[in-house]
Amino acid sequence: MTFDLKHKREKWVIGNWKMNVDLASCEQLITQIASKTNLFSNKIKMGLAIPYPYLSLAKHLLNDLDNRVYIGAQDISAYSKGAYTGEVSSAMVAEMGAQFVLIGHSERRQYHRETDEIILNKLNQALEINLVPVLCIGENLQERQLASTEKVVSQQLQILSALPENKLKKVIIAYEPVWAIGSGLAASPEQAQAVHKFIRGILNSYNQQLSNIAILYGGSVKAENASLLFSQEDIDGGLIGAASLNAASFLGICQAAAVSCC
Ligand code: PGA
Repeated sequence: MTFDLKHKREKWVIGNWKMNVDLASCEQLITQIASKTNLFSNKIKMGLAIPYPYLSLAKHLLNDLDNRVYIGAQDISAYSKGAYTGEVSSAMVAEMGAQFVLIGHSERRQYHRETDEIILNKLNQALEINLVPVLCIGENLQERQLASTEKVVSQQLQILSALPENKLKKVIIAYEPVWAIGSGLAASPEQAQAVHKFIRGILNSYNQQLSNIAILYGGSVKAENASLLFSQEDIDGGLIGAASLNAASFLGICQAAAVSCC
């Protein structure tokens, strides 16, 4: 299954399992999710960002089930090859079945001190081999309280201006306010919509052709709040952490996304 050229904006629901699964739960979740994918796959795109060691298992399970769930990695190295002990390259994850990769997640920015320079290198590593990058951006609580959200996200987006238009078109953006991640306190639909509209404006200012880029919202999305978030004009689905670790809640969120499409 390959990524099609985007002729229109698409709705996405991507699960980010972080470091929260083991072999058995990974297999069980994939099987449970795959058994219901056909309910939504003609309306939305579904993806799972899986820990490195289980990528190949996911690929084989989903292939056997002839399933339309995209597989992703949660990070890649900023380098393509060489003496970088412990690093995993874009080519390696692609070989193991990844079709997309999360880049610049706030947990990587925070705990691994990823700078914009590192994140731009990772974007280039992904795009070089046609791995779709999901670039994560968002402000922390203090920045929100200082009313600096727009300043922060526009700074984080600035690295995109270094990419040529044909590559830029392949990027997916995930707006994830850091204060909403794992806190149970999602942004309100109005708060999220305002930032998504602002982000879309920035992308359009780079190039009108970028209006089809998907901008996902992430941060405490659950089946209960997904419908209102996804019905906002500029929200093209979600990046889901905790709620993606339970098949029923993840599928509930996919259902909300599918309904918001029509
Ligand atoms: P959460 O995580 O849904 O658990 O808030 C979202 C994310 O970190 O991508």
